[in-house]
Amino acid sequence: MADGSSDKEREIAALAEKASVCVACDLCESRTNVVFGEGNPNSPLVLVGEGPGETEDRTGRPFVGRAGQLLDECLRECGILRRHIFITNVVRCRPTLEEGGRLKNRPPRTDEASTCLSLWLEPTLSVIQPLVILCLGSPAANAIIKKGFRMMQERGQFFDSKYAHYAIAGLHPAYILRQQGEAYDAARASLIADIEAARKKVIEAKKEPPRTLF
Ligand code: URA
Repeated sequence: MADGSSDKEREIAALAEKASVCVACDLCESRTNVVFGEGNPNSPLVLVGEGPGETEDRTGRPFVGRAGQLLDECLRECGILRRHIFITNVVRCRPTLEEGGRLKNRPPRTDEASTCLSLWLEPTLSVIQPLVILCLGSPAANAIIKKGFRMMQERGQFFDSKYAHYAIAGLHPAYILRQQGEAYDAARASLIADIEAARKKVIEAKKEPPRTLF
């Protein structure tokens, strides 16, 4: 390519540009920045979280607050740097609720999640065509794997997905940060195990015959 970018990089940049002015749901009213996602669109592994928090809303980048720092640590333990993979969320604008005069994070509502899925997440995944998606937390697992996903029973297992050859879900780093003592250590270890399982699945999936003719 003349400018050194790949087709996928250019397609993702064009989608991100369109998303930056999205007004498809009420979340646009309180956001500072749209957090489209970032990383390597040529990566066979994509991570999908829930939605931006305060730091992400301020910076426009996914997973850069405390949960993001924990995620980076867990990725590094598996030999993965965030610039190697693509990281995004179910929703691109921070869902908030007001409590005691302060804005707090809340999970995205079903209507917000389904609007953002069809407008931005699905097109993003169809450009990237990942081999493996790792869902971080239940909203992502519900969107990518199946409705009613039971995190404690079904995390760490591989599922078929229309968005990738395989999808797996693990604990959300923000949930891990709320645990203490042994529960924290166990939750952190389970996320590392799920990242490692996703990494190994990418290697296996690369050896499989292509799933489309063209
Ligand atoms: N939590 C998420 O789910 N996504 C982010 O980008 C940050 C925190």
